[in-house]
Amino acid sequence: MPQSATKPFIDVLSGQRQAVPPMWMMRQAGRYLPEYREVRAKAGGFLDLCFNPELAAEVTLQPIRRFGFDAAIIFSDILVIPYALGRSVRFEVGEGPRLEPLDDPAKVATLAAHADFGKLNPVFEALKLVRGALDPKIALIGFCGAPWTVATYMVAGHGTPDQAPARMMAYRHPEAFAKIIDVLVESSIDYLLKQLAAGANALQIFDTWAGVLPPAEFARWSVEPTRRIVEGVRKKVPDAKIIGFPRGAGAQLPGYVEATGVNAVSIDWTAEPAFIRERVQSRVAVQGNLDPLVLITGGAALDRAVDNTLANFAQGRFIFNLGHGIQPETPIAHVEQMLKRVRG
Ligand code: CP3
Repeated sequence: MPQSATKPFIDVLSGQRQAVPPMWMMRQAGRYLPEYREVRAKAGGFLDLCFNPELAAEVTLQPIRRFGFDAAIIFSDILVIPYALGRSVRFEVGEGPRLEPLDDPAKVATLAAHADFGKLNPVFEALKLVRGALDPKIALIGFCGAPWTVATYMVAGHGTPDQAPARMMAYRHPEAFAKIIDVLVESSIDYLLKQLAAGANALQIFDTWAGVLPPAEFARWSVEPTRRIVEGVRKKVPDAKIIGFPRGAGAQLPGYVEATGVNAVSIDWTAEPAFIRERVQSRVAVQGNLDPLVLITGGAALDRAVDNTLANFAQGRFIFNLGHGIQPETPIAHVEQMLKRVRG
């Protein structure tokens, strides 16, 4: 295995600032790329694409070939864990995910205790293919959803604007809800370890819906399960590099960093720069945080926003990224403009 010192992305996670920040984009393989749409059309459904190792590897590599990013992220989804737990998971075109709702204690009593990782073999195969094809200087990121965020989809059965169904369930039936979280913690630890074994060089834990919780619930349902995952992974792989993305955590980011032990946090575009520098970047690496809408906009507004992001964070350990996933309508030329602006 090539040493991590050869990868600028991993070097930042190890605490070494890079003069030119390494960069990648959340959702960098996706519908804004014509070559993705072409593969997606021939794969069938979205999950068919995730579970086809050759095609999943191909779409993972597409943004690397086109843009030369410093990291590839394996093409998959956070909802493959409920799928491996035997839940029904479907993706309807234009509607997002559909799961069988898990919204009362009687249903939770039937939840499998362990994931069937045989069902996720294609993801591990895809990781091996990608790692084999990637330049050693480019990092490969594996990922999972944080238990809270995965649970919001499992409970409601679909996406919602404020995750009211999961919040209600956590208030009404904390024991049943805790069981869902516990199962997700255990399966996420194993899943992340298997991704490392298959060739992932770093891991990201996506907690897209962390920001809808009051502080006490954030501590219980978002921070503590993430802490347990980090601890569980490091028990087997002590130097595992882990990025947390508690979207919308705001003033709670320093507490999240301290409690979880992540090597980096991905921040959204609402983060206050001086606060982040003093309270977060002083301790761990920071990744982010361009507003995906300014990437759609392009032009002088994009240049200004890129310059601002660099001025805010590039003096410290920093990975340039968006504050959330790239939107399908983003022009490719704007991604190229952003790359040129960051790399000079
Ligand atoms: O970043 C990458 O390029 C890697 C692939 C990746 C996908 N989903 C592919 C995907 C990753 C890291 C995810 C994570 C994910 N999935 C999250 C957390 C990060 C975030 O974006 O908030 C969440 C909440 C999900 C669940 C999910 N998957 C939703 C809500 C949707 C529907 C919304 C949408 O954008 O269509 C998906 C589908 C999905 N996952 C697509 C992709 C490329 C679009 C499906 C398609 O191509 O038809």
